[in-house]
Amino acid sequence: MKRTHTCGELSEKQIGKKVCLQGWVSTRRDHGPLIFIDLRDRYGFTQVVFNQEISSEVHKLAKTLGREFVVEIEGKVSRRPKGTDNKKIKTGSIEIGVSKLKILNSSEQPLPLEIDAHLLAGEDVRLKYRYLDLRRPEMQKNIVLRHKIVKAIRDFFDNENFIEIETPVLAKSTPEGSRDYLVPSRIFPGKFFALPQSPQQFKQLLMVSGFDRYFQIVRCFRDEDLRADRQPEFTQLDIEMSFVEPEDIYCLMENCFKEVFKKVLGIQVKIPFPRMIFDDAMNFYGSDKPDTRFGLKFLDLTKELAETEFEIFNSIIKKGGFIKAVVVPKPDFSKKDLSDLLDAAKTFKAKGLVTMEVKGDSLESQIAKFLKPGHVKAVLEKTKARENDLILLIADEWRTCCTALGAVRLKVAEKLSLIDKNKFSFLWVTEFPLLEFSEEEQKLVAMHHPFTSPADSDADLLEKEPLKVKSKAYDCILNGSEIGGGSIRIHKREMQSRMFKALGISDEEAEKKFGHLLTAFKFGAPPHGGIAFGIDRLAAIICGTDSIREVIAFPKNKSCSSLMDDSPSEVSAQQLKELKLKIDLEK
Ligand code: AMO
Repeated sequence: MKRTHTCGELSEKQIGKKVCLQGWVSTRRDHGPLIFIDLRDRYGFTQVVFNQEISSEVHKLAKTLGREFVVEIEGKVSRRPKGTDNKKIKTGSIEIGVSKLKILNSSEQPLPLEIDAHLLAGEDVRLKYRYLDLRRPEMQKNIVLRHKIVKAIRDFFDNENFIEIETPVLAKSTPEGSRDYLVPSRIFPGKFFALPQSPQQFKQLLMVSGFDRYFQIVRCFRDEDLRADRQPEFTQLDIEMSFVEPEDIYCLMENCFKEVFKKVLGIQVKIPFPRMIFDDAMNFYGSDKPDTRFGLKFLDLTKELAETEFEIFNSIIKKGGFIKAVVVPKPDFSKKDLSDLLDAAKTFKAKGLVTMEVKGDSLESQIAKFLKPGHVKAVLEKTKARENDLILLIADEWRTCCTALGAVRLKVAEKLSLIDKNKFSFLWVTEFPLLEFSEEEQKLVAMHHPFTSPADSDADLLEKEPLKVKSKAYDCILNGSEIGGGSIRIHKREMQSRMFKALGISDEEAEKKFGHLLTAFKFGAPPHGGIAFGIDRLAAIICGTDSIREVIAFPKNKSCSSLMDDSPSEVSAQQLKELKLKIDLEK
């Protein structure tokens, strides 16, 4: 390589040395006989000086340099004149006096987006010109950090005797939770492959094959509505092990994260991680992925507020609903703040949000006139709320009551800046129900996936009281984000068939869709279990960003398209003909 150093490397140690650098022109400042540029590459910036007195020819050429030109310079390292050091960059005490300049490529001006400016372009512009956006040091830092995370993970699993095995990307379409991306087959017209939502069935089959410690960093595909933490294609750290208990998985992953955080951030993560059962997570935090960086734990006031004159509460309690509350210490909320909290509650289908402010021995509230002194006393006793504290209450059926108050809890924390952004709070959530009722599909669906084992003690309830069955599933939560989920699996054919039945899948349909797995279970399938982590989510948290798009080199935008290459796009009539497909767009 012709370059002798990178742009982030030179210091006073190299003063007097002749060097060659290559990189991009970040800024150019023309001071007449002296022209300065900040030369940038992924390692940093170096100040480069074109001095008319050193070479008038080079100085003349430097006048033509525009931003993002790619150049090669040769020159001598010198100390910057006194008082002109730039403490913000690593190379800030030196500069290069250029004797040779070669323009390797030019760049159109103006650029569609600012590379080094603090003024960030809109996300769609950034995604359209992602290759330019990725030149920004912030993005380069994220992508490098992501590489380090994946490298640390791979090294950890290799040391633990795991084998990385690739599984097919063209696979069978089987229901696994969300919608599949389909790929038409040219050789078998009318038939389709599906891109895997996860390698779930393959990793279980690898257990049947005897690879007792499997892992893979693998791309998964799900056709679902996007959010800040969801992409149609995303990356999992996928793991499966034979002959394990949940404890083995917890211990393995805790050690993995301990190592990753130490290597990548130099941070000591405390292990073991705390654990919380699903019911507690919902009852106390209103979420199956509680953010435990702050408190605001719920209190149940159903008993304390029974038999008030407020009919809405009474009818909810009569129908088996709950009244739950959080106490916010002296918040001083404006009307707008309170209306934001109500909006948060409403997004989770709550019909209202009751507020009670402690004033002396009484409660200032929209429903004060419905409360008897006994109710006020009971509420004050249970909540231990003090003068000017605000009690926020939601009454509804269990799930709505919990989840809506959960949303309010998060909003309060955000408004009062209760979240320590430098904290990493891991948590295992355990004892999930095996099944839940889907309002959308009007049937029972698996809470994790159909291969999750019921808890041993509950297996008998599968046919009689399926909603009461707990599973051997667990989720790993980091700062309120579900970064991983897994379970001990069903490994016996008979139990797997019972599970399919509970999900309303007939024997015939099960055979058609999952015959390969059911057949494999006939031939000595070992007990096994595993977990998968969202690498994008983990990387986003480690990089301190809310959106996983910030840690993916070429993500899709919010409406699921790639603005850079303009995909998805139409295909030619010839391509459709080869696939024997006709497009008939429904109006
Ligand atoms: P699950 O569906 O919970 O489990 O996925 C595992 C983890 O993958 C991440 N994740 C996503 N990240 C970005 N965009 C998405 N659309 C997306 N969907 C999921 C989450 C999630 O916790 N086969 C099982 C795992 C197992 O049982 O071993 C599975 O895929 O961080």
